[in-house]
Amino acid sequence: MTTRRTALRQLAVGLLAARSSRAAEASVNIRIDEPIGPIAPALYGHFTEHIGGVIYGGVWVGENSSIPNEHGLRKRLLDSLRLLRPPVIRWPGGCFADSYDWRDGVGPRAKRPRRLNFWQTDPQLAKAPDGPQKYEPNEFGTAEFMRFVRAVGAEPYFAANVRSLTPRDFHEWIDYCNTPAGKTTLADQRAASGDVEPYRVRYWGVGNESWGCGGDLTPDEYAMEFRRFTSYIPKFDAPLNLIAAGPNGGDLNWTRRFFANLAEKSPGLLNRVWGWALHYYCGTAGKGQALDFDVADWYALLGKASRMEDLIVQHWAAMGEIDARHRVKLVVDEWGAWHRAGSEVDPAYLFGQTPTLRDALISALTLDIFQRHADKVAMANVAQLVNNLHALFLAREDKFTETPNYHVFRMYMPHAGATSVRADFSAPQAAGMWRLAGSASIRGRQLTLTAVNSHATEECAAAIAIPGYKVASASSTTLASTDLRAHNSFEAPRRLEPRTAPAELASGVYRFPPASVTRLDITLA
Ligand code: AHR
Repeated sequence: MTTRRTALRQLAVGLLAARSSRAAEASVNIRIDEPIGPIAPALYGHFTEHIGGVIYGGVWVGENSSIPNEHGLRKRLLDSLRLLRPPVIRWPGGCFADSYDWRDGVGPRAKRPRRLNFWQTDPQLAKAPDGPQKYEPNEFGTAEFMRFVRAVGAEPYFAANVRSLTPRDFHEWIDYCNTPAGKTTLADQRAASGDVEPYRVRYWGVGNESWGCGGDLTPDEYAMEFRRFTSYIPKFDAPLNLIAAGPNGGDLNWTRRFFANLAEKSPGLLNRVWGWALHYYCGTAGKGQALDFDVADWYALLGKASRMEDLIVQHWAAMGEIDARHRVKLVVDEWGAWHRAGSEVDPAYLFGQTPTLRDALISALTLDIFQRHADKVAMANVAQLVNNLHALFLAREDKFTETPNYHVFRMYMPHAGATSVRADFSAPQAAGMWRLAGSASIRGRQLTLTAVNSHATEECAAAIAIPGYKVASASSTTLASTDLRAHNSFEAPRRLEPRTAPAELASGVYRFPPASVTRLDITLA
């Protein structure tokens, strides 16, 4: 009797499965009992460099500006950024960092020197008028950046100059920032400029892209500089998380040689490295235009962006050859698309591309990759915040808009601090690449599933299984458009925004719209 009942039940389950598999061409199996690790909130970090319109025109408008501001910081940007609860912001570069003397940007603003900006000779700026993009006024320095991060509740991440300054300059910047007032001359200078309390800056990058604009060094030369710069750093008031300048994309030799060099000198030296900075820009595709691309370019660029996963896995394995216990974590402190010039809102805004739906999918698939590798990636910083590559905002004079990238960062907020769990996606391919990919995390009874349907024109029906758990309720938030080039502008700032609706998961099948980013908020019974 029991055997007959079991057989009937198996038949019923089989029929149900057959019905849902007819309806579903894809599947998502979420294994809540297979945790990957806590998702560091710092994965949703940002980057602001003194380049083009990021600082001057973007973040900083000046205290005497008619543009609404809080102590010189663009108010509209602060308001939108606060809603993201940004964990960390990197500054002052980028390549600019290795040309920057922090002393130029402290003390009374009227007395600060004007310098040639690192990017001044970029051919794209040849036709731009003279201004802060070419001649750095140093109006925005350490105190202004600290005001900015404090205004939005973020932690600062400073990149120190290794190419053109000395270890002593680096240590004195830490002294200026972190020593309690009354103890050193530099701490007193900070206090005299209005900041009595130490800044307690924890994250310090030791150089930037030292294989390129940061000095054209070999990995062994950089390892030597890293050892020199990090020897006997006074700790003062805050623990330091030092981030070493890691590889350009897939340069595994850079990773292997740096780790080997430190270990050859003394295995204990690896304890100085908190993070290993990987930079990967997926570039562009086809004609290279941000706003003008076809379906082939759409798939090509999403495919290039997906390479981030292999890079994380490969560098992690290379790091593990020396750092077997994986004490050092990855910090992807520059990532995003990099299109050709042509869509800037101002000619002086070097690399100031306008993001579309395609860039939003790149944001989502990249954050999903970081979340799937939450055990490996400790921080990431999208490049860059405003008026630049892969920006979350565009701003010019008093005009401002959030880009589709901003909306993805907002959609992904529930993952921050939750536990990443295994989610197996299976779907037919779209134009030779994955069709549906994503990640899942759990916090209490709240399950968050985010996914990208890369297909340009077709929805993707996926059977969603959460073995061992029942769904009490669900809602969906979706960013999608039938226009692959959809984007927000000053004239139409709300053209592309996410929509939230109840999600019907009773049948076990969810239909992901074409060319979309989706978040499912699932409350478990
Ligand atoms: O983000 C723009 C530039 O790209 C950065 O300054 C540099 O680090 C990278 O090459």
